[in-house]
Amino acid sequence: MKVLIHQTPERAVRCVADILVKRLDLQPDTVLGLATGGTMEAVYARLIKAYRGGHVSFDRARSFNLDEYIGLPPDHPCSYWRYMEDRLFDHVDFGAGATCLPRGDAADPEAEAAAYERAIARSGDIGLQLLGLGANGHIGFNEPSSSLSSLTRIKTLTRSTRAANARFFDDPDDVPRLAITMGIGTILRAEEIVLLGFGEGKAEAAAAMIEGPVSASCPASALQLHDKVTVVLDQAAASRLKLREYYELVHPGGGDAVITPFQPAA
Ligand code: GLP
Repeated sequence: MKVLIHQTPERAVRCVADILVKRLDLQPDTVLGLATGGTMEAVYARLIKAYRGGHVSFDRARSFNLDEYIGLPPDHPCSYWRYMEDRLFDHVDFGAGATCLPRGDAADPEAEAAAYERAIARSGDIGLQLLGLGANGHIGFNEPSSSLSSLTRIKTLTRSTRAANARFFDDPDDVPRLAITMGIGTILRAEEIVLLGFGEGKAEAAAAMIEGPVSASCPASALQLHDKVTVVLDQAAASRLKLREYYELVHPGGGDAVITPFQPAA
């Protein structure tokens, strides 16, 4: 796990946006795994800026979002489909039909989840998966106790997750109780994973994810099993890491590792 600790949330956001831009430059037809939540808003704003400046294009890329609330149709103001349209899709050049989310209003949500999983596999799986981090350690909507090899399916949201997401709804009671989410096994099939977390509220989950045991109690800890994960944090989110000094030694200021060959004394 590469742990990059930045001085400010803004720098952490810039770092993640740069990773995406670089990946699309190297492989324009990358299959992106996209995330929602407050954390991603600034990342998408930077990507739009990069697109407008001619630094990135999405016209050959495809995307699959992590999750969607069950019961909300795509045009519902609080659906993740709408979130993605408003914050990214309507402002960049993805081709028609290149962006996918599960349908929250599917008549048969279980069949919808299974079809979504098959569509991801048919696309060759995710090339670069973007993740946020729930304060309880969830990724996507894989709440604590999720199977570490789970596939896309229906999950019941915890009370704390519903409370955390209530700010996006007019009434806290309107937050759906169920969601369709990519599974942890689905996420782990991605070629490369980038997780972004900032703020004190993510510090405990970040420590459990990076330094705790691999356990369903902290779904994000499953990322320890993946060989290409970059975790990008700000100072506050990194504040409970026991090995923080080591991560900062390897990646000063959240930058690339400095690898200088050993020079034996003459
Ligand atoms: C939601 C999403 C997650 C996201 C998490 C963190 O529950 N399903 O994908 O990572 O919230 O949200 P925020 O970025 O708002 O803290």
